[in-house]
Amino acid sequence: MTAWQLSGFGLNNLKPAQITQAEPKSDDVLIKFEAASVNPRDFQIIEGLFTQNVKFPLTPLSDGAGVVVAKGNDVTKLELGDRVTPLFFPNWKSGEALFDERQISSGLETHGVLRKSGVYNQNAVIKIPDYLTACEAACLPCAGLTAWTSLVPVGNIQPYNTVLVQGTGGVAIAALQLSKALGAKVVIISSSDEKLDRAKNMGADLCINYVKQPNWGNEAFEFAGHGVDAVIEIGGAGTMEQSLNAIRHGGHIAVIGYMAGIQLDVTVFPLIIKCANLHGIATGNRDNFEQMLSFMTNHKIRPTISNLYSYKEATAALGDMAKGNHFGKLVIDFAR
Ligand SMILES: NC(=O)c1ccc[n+]([C@@H]2O[C@H](COP(=O)([O-])OP(=O)(O)OC[C@H]3O[C@@H](n4cnc5c(N)ncnc54)[C@H](OP(=O)(O)O)[C@@H]3O)[C@@H](O)[C@H]2O)c1
Repeated sequence: MTAWQLSGFGLNNLKPAQITQAEPKSDDVLIKFEAASVNPRDFQIIEGLFTQNVKFPLTPLSDGAGVVVAKGNDVTKLELGDRVTPLFFPNWKSGEALFDERQISSGLETHGVLRKSGVYNQNAVIKIPDYLTACEAACLPCAGLTAWTSLVPVGNIQPYNTVLVQGTGGVAIAALQLSKALGAKVVIISSSDEKLDRAKNMGADLCINYVKQPNWGNEAFEFAGHGVDAVIEIGGAGTMEQSLNAIRHGGHIAVIGYMAGIQLDVTVFPLIIKCANLHGIATGNRDNFEQMLSFMTNHKIRPTISNLYSYKEATAALGDMAKGNHFGKLVIDFAR
C-alpha cells in the first residue's frame, strides 16, 4: 500500500491503495514520509463534517514529516537527505494571507500526508531541526504552529504574562509548553483530574477541572491578578463567556477551536468594557513556522505524543481522535 485514500465520506471509506508515484520536476522535491499526526479537522473532513466540498479520492491528514529523496533540476533550497515537513497552507509565506494563499490546504484541497511519498514544491516544505524525530516534527504544521501564532505574533506573550489554555489536546499542550518556555504563567482547564496532574508536572501553574468548576473564568482572572493576558480558546461557543470573564483589559482571546460549539451567543458588554481582542487564528504562515522552530530549538522543546500507531493502524488513530482520551498528539509512525 502506498497511500491511504478516501473514496467517500466515512472512516470505512478510507482504504489503502497502490498509487504510481510521479517524479519531481523543476523546483519540486519528492518526500518519503516517515510520520503523520492526526488533527480533529482530519477526522471531520473524513466524516463530511468539515465541508461537503471534497474531491474524491483524497489522501487525508495535513501534518507529516519525512526526507527529501529526489529533486528537480531547479531546486536550490533543499538537498537529498534533508528532513522536512510540508506546510499546512503551502502558498502562505508571510504576513496576513492574500486570498490565493489560503485557497489550498494540505489534506483537503490537495492531497495530505497519509501516504508513503509525495511531490511538493521546494517552497511548500520547511526543514526540521536535527534534535526532533520525524514523529515529533509531524506534530507541528497545524497544532504546534497554531499555538505559536496565538502566543507570539498575535498574543505578544511576555515572561510576566499569564496564559489561559483550554483542554489538554494537541494545540493546548503545545501552548502549555511554549508558554512556559516564554516564561509565562499558565492556567489550564480540563475535564480530567488525571490530565491536569500531567499538565501540572509539565509546569502548569493553576489547574482547573472545568466540569467541577464551571465558573473557571473568575478563578483564572483572580489568579492572574488583573485577568489573564491571553486565552487559547479551544472550546469556542461554549467557553467564550468564561474566557471573557478571565481576560484582562486589552487581552487577546485567540479563537482557535469549536470543541464546545460553533454558534456564539454572548453579550458584547464584557468585550466592550474590557477592550478585549477576539482574534481568529488559522494555523500560521511560513515565516512564523520558521520563528517557532528556531525558538523550539533554543529551548529544546519536544512535542508531547500521547499515542503512537503504525501506518496500517491509521484508522485506529483517527478513531481515537474522535474518542478524545488523548493528552497531546496522536501520531502515526511509518517505521512501526
Ligand atoms: N484555527 C486553527 O488554526 C486550528 C488549528 C488546530 C486545531 N483547531 C481546532 O482547535 C480545537 C482543538 O484542536 P486540537 O488539535 O488541540 O484537538 P484535540 O487534541 O482533540 O484536543 C481537544 C481538546 O478540547 C478540549 N475540550 C473539549 N471540550 C472542552 C470544553 N468545553 N472546555 C475546554 N476544553 C474542552 C479537551 O479537553 P480535555 O480532554 O482536557 O477535557 C481536549 O483536550 C479543535 O476544535 C480543532 O478543530 C483549530
